[in-house]
Amino acid sequence: MPSETTGRPADDATRLSPLSAAQRAEIFAALDPVPGCAKPDPVIVVDGVTRKFGGLTAVDVAHLEIQRGAITGLIGPNGAGKTTFFNLITGFDKPNTGTWALNGESLGKLVPHQVSRRGMVRTFQLTRALAKLSVLDNVRLGARSQRGENFFAALAPWTWRSQEADVTERAHALLKRFKLDAKAQDYAGSLSGGQRKLLEMARALMCDPEVVMLDEPMAGVNPALTQSLLEHIKSLRDEGRTVVFVEHDMDVIRDISDWVVVMAQGSVIAESLPHRLGENEAVVEAYLGGHHDQMLEFDADGNPVGATAELAEEVDDAVAKALQAGGDLSTAGTHPTGAEEKTL
Ligand SMILES: Nc1ncnc2c1ncn2[C@@H]1O[C@H](COP(=O)(O)OP(=O)(O)O)[C@@H](O)[C@H]1O
Ligand SMILES: [Mg+2]
Repeated sequence: MPSETTGRPADDATRLSPLSAAQRAEIFAALDPVPGCAKPDPVIVVDGVTRKFGGLTAVDVAHLEIQRGAITGLIGPNGAGKTTFFNLITGFDKPNTGTWALNGESLGKLVPHQVSRRGMVRTFQLTRALAKLSVLDNVRLGARSQRGENFFAALAPWTWRSQEADVTERAHALLKRFKLDAKAQDYAGSLSGGQRKLLEMARALMCDPEVVMLDEPMAGVNPALTQSLLEHIKSLRDEGRTVVFVEHDMDVIRDISDWVVVMAQGSVIAESLPHRLGENEAVVEAYLGGHHDQMLEFDADGNPVGATAELAEEVDDAVAKALQAGGDLSTAGTHPTGAEEKTL
């Protein structure tokens, strides 16, 4: 199916080779958890990417590798540069310096539809569904950048039309997958926040991407839909796709990430197995902004001990509570004492 409609070579149809849970566990357990650490099979490699807005360095990523076929959670306080980083590597923004590659091919000069054609798509923190178009047409639009836009194909309308039918069929199949099929003919504007997130995912999948970048896919989604969104994200990985997603809720991060990358002030400050995040001094620092008035203590294995262990738990709790309350993490560093942290 994919080769006919994505514009990629036919042998690309077999390019997705899912990893089992055991394989993923083995890969990530073996990594040296430091910023920029090497992965055995990186689908994305980033080097020296910086982006400045006036005097502010929004992104400054020295080196980052994203492992193929896994879910990488990208976390960090608000303003850490996560969205800007997504914008850069998917061609929506241009960096001041740096290079990055997808499957070894440098993407620096490409615009978004060229990036998606090579197999990397992203969704937006604020959904971009076109309210006055039908749900079906919104999904069909995900197929642009395909053969219908191609100059030679345009000379041969019969090819174009057969593709059009195929696009519609695939759009229907995706709507079914995301349980939006009953809404196909409704205006996208009539969907709930959660349904729009699903719509965005369906649209992103129209070009059968190898890498899916999701910017806060859970934000604004009511709890009834979050579980289903999580299952959809896992299913992308289980098909062999690579998922990078930005999320604030630590429970969600722990539930579905194979690996976590932490950004603060534009840089990658930590990489970790999800369940070891709370033990990471740099992560605790980033979320508490250095306002805690005690030294952090870790044992020889890097596990927090004594008060530091309690603090690590508090950070996790504070993050979870802030999100449950609809707050954001940008305030997490502004409360100097433990008592206040608990109320975040
Ligand atoms: N277009 C822009 N112009 C100026 N500053 C920006 C722009 N986009 C982002 N920033 C700034 O860059 C920093 C990183 O923002 P962003 O990437 O949105 O962070 P995050 O997604 O991690 O919350 C923030 O300080 C933000 O205010
Ligand atoms: Mg953001």
